[in-house]
Amino acid sequence: FLVDKGNHRHFMEKEIHEQPEVISHTLANYLDFAEGGVRAFEMPFDFGKIDRLAVSACGTAYLAGLIGKYWLERYARLPVDIDIASEFRYREMPLSKSSAALFVSQSGETADTLASLRYCRAQGVPIASIVNVRDSTIARESDGIFPTLAGPEIGVASTKAFTCQLAIFAALAARAGLQRGTLSDEEARRMVRALSEAPRYAAQALRLEGHIEKIARELSQVRHVLYLGRDTSYPLAMEGALKLKEISYIHAEGYAAGELKHGPIALIDESMPVIVIAPTDRIFEKTVSNMQEVAARGGRIILITDEAGAARASLDKFETIVMPTMPEFIAPIVYALPVQMLAYHTAVAMGTDVDQPRNLAKSVTVE
Ligand code: G6P
Repeated sequence: FLVDKGNHRHFMEKEIHEQPEVISHTLANYLDFAEGGVRAFEMPFDFGKIDRLAVSACGTAYLAGLIGKYWLERYARLPVDIDIASEFRYREMPLSKSSAALFVSQSGETADTLASLRYCRAQGVPIASIVNVRDSTIARESDGIFPTLAGPEIGVASTKAFTCQLAIFAALAARAGLQRGTLSDEEARRMVRALSEAPRYAAQALRLEGHIEKIARELSQVRHVLYLGRDTSYPLAMEGALKLKEISYIHAEGYAAGELKHGPIALIDESMPVIVIAPTDRIFEKTVSNMQEVAARGGRIILITDEAGAARASLDKFETIVMPTMPEFIAPIVYALPVQMLAYHTAVAMGTDVDQPRNLAKSVTVE
């Protein structure tokens, strides 16, 4: 079938804009919004009967898994091991009979992810996969799949598949919390309610595009960018850095804000912008102190936060991207959008081939 760009300049732009719709579509498969509960979708294992989950994936899918780890451990008290698939396949991790494995892949064909799956198969644990392509090899070789309903993703740098993977991890966290007895019905319902609002917040985030485009024009002039975040914003910081380097070829690193003192602070000066992802959550104040450390060294801060965060950050000189106020739980799904738009518009300002960046492939089917 034919997939076209519609009114968009690039597939990536189109795919960023499709997110409110595809996130909603994906969530509806796992959650019952009318009843406010989690659906009894098919699963190859029961979260109540396993004591560990091994997750592996590559690239952006790996970063979705990292956010999934925070959620599954926090809400379902399920220990999660997360690995880059090219490491997992060789590191000979012991898997007990009471564990399960979960793979994340847009294409379902990534060689290292598939090899990791086969390693787990040989260990005899139940295998599930979050995939966007239902008739892919990874889907076929799994005991059960959680399909993302993102539709075909053409841009090499993953966007809508990522937020749909997050949507599934969020739904899995609610399901796991119920099966493991760590969430009450009311708490799970609150999570479902929050998730039901994610598409609306994502649509609001898209309206910040004009402002983000302006910031991106400045960003296109620099050579290095540092992204910082804590908690679930930490993997998102890494995703921001990955997106930026993939499509704009600007060197970027994503760091846990608390690690600033252990290295990257040495790099801070006027020429390296620091993008801080910080919704007002339980540890917002900690991130504020990191921003003060950056500001004290002349670093330029671009803060992605909500209204309360923008007011509380009270620094002298910084740029803010002000997001709508939303439940903390869904923030990573929605905050992914400004992070993607920032990378996209920086690449457009630089004139790179956004949908087909040099040296990259959409699906890495060789090792
Ligand atoms: C490539 C793509 C990335 C993607 C990664 C994993 O590097 O450029 O966007 O995240 O592969 O692909 P998968 O299909 O397994 O999600």
